[in-house]
Amino acid sequence: MKKEVDFLVIGSGLAGTSFALKVADHGKVCLISKTNIEETNTQYAQGGIAAVTYEPDSYEKHIQDTLIAGDGLCDEQVVRNVVRDAPAQIEELIRWGARFDKKSNGEFDLAREGGHSEKRILHHKDNTGFEIQKKLSEQARKHKNIEILEDHFAVDLITQHHLGILVKRYNQNIRCFGAYVLDLKTDQVITLLAKTTLIAAGGVGNLYHTTTNPSIATGDGIAMVYRAKGIIENMEFVQFHPTSLYHPGERPSFLVSEALRGFGAVLKTQDSKEFMDKYDKRKSLAPRDIVARAIDNEMKSRGDDYVFLDASHLDPEELVSHFPNIHEKCLSIGIDIRKDMIPVVPAAHYMCGGIKVDEHGATWIKQLYAAGETSSTGLHGANRLASNSLIEAIVYADRSAQSAISEASKASIQKNVPDWDYSGTSHPEEMILITQNFKEMQQIMSNYVGIVRTDLRLNRALVRLEIIYRETEALYRKSTLSKSLCELRNLITAGYLTITMAQDRKESRGLHYNLDYPQKKALHDIF
Ligand code: FAD
Ligand code: SIN
Repeated sequence: MKKEVDFLVIGSGLAGTSFALKVADHGKVCLISKTNIEETNTQYAQGGIAAVTYEPDSYEKHIQDTLIAGDGLCDEQVVRNVVRDAPAQIEELIRWGARFDKKSNGEFDLAREGGHSEKRILHHKDNTGFEIQKKLSEQARKHKNIEILEDHFAVDLITQHHLGILVKRYNQNIRCFGAYVLDLKTDQVITLLAKTTLIAAGGVGNLYHTTTNPSIATGDGIAMVYRAKGIIENMEFVQFHPTSLYHPGERPSFLVSEALRGFGAVLKTQDSKEFMDKYDKRKSLAPRDIVARAIDNEMKSRGDDYVFLDASHLDPEELVSHFPNIHEKCLSIGIDIRKDMIPVVPAAHYMCGGIKVDEHGATWIKQLYAAGETSSTGLHGANRLASNSLIEAIVYADRSAQSAISEASKASIQKNVPDWDYSGTSHPEEMILITQNFKEMQQIMSNYVGIVRTDLRLNRALVRLEIIYRETEALYRKSTLSKSLCELRNLITAGYLTITMAQDRKESRGLHYNLDYPQKKALHDIF
């Protein structure tokens, strides 16, 4: 089956849906999501969205905080662009109906998070992402030019490769004609042809056993672009959030927002002693990489499974009013945050690298844009500043939309694209073959490619991942398509890129910490 649209949008989080809404007045849009459109990383965002609103904050302060967190690897022009574009995009969100908490004087009730020198996080209680996703999804469902396809899984991008032409990485003229999309209800593959495609398929959290990301975050966008011979960068910079709720067996791990530390909660070891002063003068509010490594070190040296986050000294009413979601979740497992300390552990949270894009969100592949967590814009460098990802997603969706609209008259639908080739794939494989490899892949990444790395661990990870890669490719070639097999394959690709990029970085910087190279190189030795 073939389908033709002007704009194909893969992913319905903040990046994909805001792009769809912006281009929808200029052509027919197809917005696809592998489950329902609300099930995204976006809807789990708690802390909020960073933007400069009032003095004493300033663009320059937000720029400097972002550059410091990024540890020398941010693209300064990109940082300046995003910080300056941010307030207009916040207004856009408000026009679409998103509500941010305000004080009695009508000003935004700004929160503070690690690495921010000022209060600048706009939030909706402690479930900002839910509010944003809900309002955007409502707008998208109402728009007559947006067709929403839920339970549709993008398998591969269509390029000249599918016309029988040899495509090599770094070829200057690779073009994207759309994507092969598996309808998960009928098991049929649709040839979805588009003049312009946006990938907004989110993160890779499920590379790791403990993650704050929902199960949709399987690196599909990054893997698809890599297979299509696009350029991927900075995958070694995996951000671990310092404080996810320690509740063994729960997937995904529930996040205990950094905003709680911004509100005054402090980290303690299991014997109730503060420890962050040993690691950084900003203590519990140091940037995430420092806090996550400190917790990892305390847990390993003491042999503990978790540390505590203590909010019991804070005003109980204020606490519950600002963090109703965290309060309710903790209560459901018998922890009253007004009185009890909260057991927390670091969890894989955010991918700073991804599909390399220019200042318009354009990828190396023509007619293909990328935005949101799947992309690497240059904003985050070696470490993302808290609450800078939602703002990046909407700013780059806007930049991509403006560029796609202005290029639209030059784009056309490619004819003669063959339908999906089902030959040789006759039977669904036993699930156990997929689930076992999935578990092994997560173990390899968690044990060898985590917060602290060594050359030995990285080498071991690569050797073991290669075995799983070969088995999974063999399975893929003979099995009928399934979401779980495609996701495993995509995660293996994302894992391979993470390991090999980590091996190439012979220093410790930002989120990448290697005991064999504990020092940072001089920047002139890197560029
Ligand atoms: P997502 O919102 O993850 O959307 C991805 C979409 O792609 C989904 O619709 C999915 O179905 C679709 N998709 C994926 N693969 C396929 C495929 N093969 N075929 C079809 N569809 C596909 N950031 C902040 O700035 N502030 C915060 O407070 C904050 N808190 C967070 C809390 C949690 C618990 C988590 C997990 C993240 C948080 N983040 C926060 C990070 C932020 O939420 C994400 O980086 C951001 O929402 C990503 O948006 P996105 O549009 O790029 O992708
Ligand atoms: C949080 O609320 O701690 C998450 C913020 C973020 O990931 O930016």
